[in-house]
Amino acid sequence: MIMVYRRTEPASPIRRHPSIVPFSRDHHFGLLLSWKIRQGIKNHIDGERISDYVIYFFEKALAPHFRLEEEQLFPLFAEGHAGCQQALREHTQLEFLVNELRRDKTGNVILQAFADLLEKHIRFEERILFNQLQTEIYDPHITEDRSQHLTKEEDPDLNWEDHFWTASPEKRRRNK
Ligand SMILES: [Fe+2]
Ligand SMILES: [Fe+2]
Repeated sequence: MIMVYRRTEPASPIRRHPSIVPFSRDHHFGLLLSWKIRQGIKNHIDGERISDYVIYFFEKALAPHFRLEEEQLFPLFAEGHAGCQQALREHTQLEFLVNELRRDKTGNVILQAFADLLEKHIRFEERILFNQLQTEIYDPHITEDRSQHLTKEEDPDLNWEDHFWTASPEKRRRNK
């Protein structure tokens, strides 16, 4: 019998234009944030500790990232571009959820919603919007200012002590 295997995974992603690479690197840290929130919820970490970190990370990394996208990337598209409109809406929704956390840090519902929307937003930008940017706009010219993007050296976790996502409660207890 001859077995035919089909490729079910999507075609290999488009190689990122150098000027967009720092944005994609930021996205890596953003996806990690969603993972950390889910780890915290799964391990029954106090909502206040997770919320404090989310607010810190938002102010330190996500809000500047959104601003750079809105100032440098989205204007490269035609006015009213549907994908940019969606991305802008999601930026506003994510900021709204962070403001909700500022008012009440105790519940997991907002944290879960934030983690889900952030991941969805990043996947949308990486899989659709950035690919459109590279195919519709032949050579996106973006002012080189990498200082505001995240790098290994600029990892916000270096200035945050409470790494609540690092181990399960059992492991934490065993390590004491
Ligand atoms: Fe975005
Ligand atoms: Fe983004």
